[in-house]
Amino acid sequence: MPSSLPTRLPARFPTRLATLGAALLCGSLALTACGANDDAGGDDGEDSKVIALLLPESKTTRYEAFDRPLFEEKVDELCDDCKVLYYNADQDENKQSEQVDTALSEGAAVLVLDPVNGEGAGGMVQSAEDLGTEVVAYDRFIADADYYISFDNETVGRMQGEALVEAMGGKGSILMLNGAPSDPNAAQFKAGAHSAIDDSGVKILEEYDNPDWSPENAQTFVTDMLNQYDVDEIQGVYAANDGQAGGVVAALTGAGVAADELPPVTGQDAELAGIQRIVAGEQEMTIYKPIAVEAEKAAELAVDLVNGDDVGETTDFEGVPSFIFDPIVVTADNVGDTVVADEFYSVEDICTDQYAEACAEAGLQ
Ligand code: GAL
Repeated sequence: MPSSLPTRLPARFPTRLATLGAALLCGSLALTACGANDDAGGDDGEDSKVIALLLPESKTTRYEAFDRPLFEEKVDELCDDCKVLYYNADQDENKQSEQVDTALSEGAAVLVLDPVNGEGAGGMVQSAEDLGTEVVAYDRFIADADYYISFDNETVGRMQGEALVEAMGGKGSILMLNGAPSDPNAAQFKAGAHSAIDDSGVKILEEYDNPDWSPENAQTFVTDMLNQYDVDEIQGVYAANDGQAGGVVAALTGAGVAADELPPVTGQDAELAGIQRIVAGEQEMTIYKPIAVEAEKAAELAVDLVNGDDVGETTDFEGVPSFIFDPIVVTADNVGDTVVADEFYSVEDICTDQYAEACAEAGLQ
């Protein structure tokens, strides 16, 4: 059974957003500097307890803007003599493996690992275990990990599929863009979405597994499809996350579809750009996963593990002791009651000049 923790967040997210531009710059332009072995603060002493956080990519905004800072702040708050080492693999499995080796050589006692490739992470877990280091599979499942923390990912996919079918009145044809086959979550999102779409009246014209989740690939795929299908035949698009939804919308508007005539497009991650598209009527929905709940639980667990403390009650997910949280659907009707109420974004974050009119219509300001 998925469990939920309180999702109310302290008012610190504008700071997160201020770091987002810099984080994106790190993702695209300054990989060597940003991929380096950053110390997140805490105790710098020789005898500090070392926790490593390893995230998979930086094109999806959540990792640098939310997961990393929320995790680091929580560890800092809970443990005076802990030190966090941070790495982002930029979607490169070999780079992540080297980062694991570096973290272990730096004395990491716990790895909080969000794998680029879930099935390929067995060797990394083995290297850790050989040294007595515990591994927390963060957000994406790893079969041999000691613990797993995530959201109910099949439900994410089902909620996306149901929202799309409903927005299309149960009929019409769609393109389907899934996540990277190396990401175990992608298979769960896909299975959940199919469970809602396959027996509905909605027909899948073409389906694509985006090898790196990138918005660019999503845009190229849809642009290619527009050479095969008449734009009117694309009456909806299942996009597994907001990054891809952005690429889909760019391809459709690039092909001449007016912003107010876009077909329903799904998403996930409640990225700021996704929320703004929802308010403006350019995207049907997104899935909000309260990242604070996930990142802060991971920080608590990592601190318990380095201190040898009891980790509390877990649930079982495929044989791994787990903490699984509930996703939340966001549409134009509940932006205020979800991401704004939770202080994930402020109204000012969302309602920039470009979106002022749409925000007023949506009752946001
Ligand atoms: C998934 C994750 C999503 C999204 C995607 C692309 O594993 O659960 O939130 O970020 O990867 O990185």
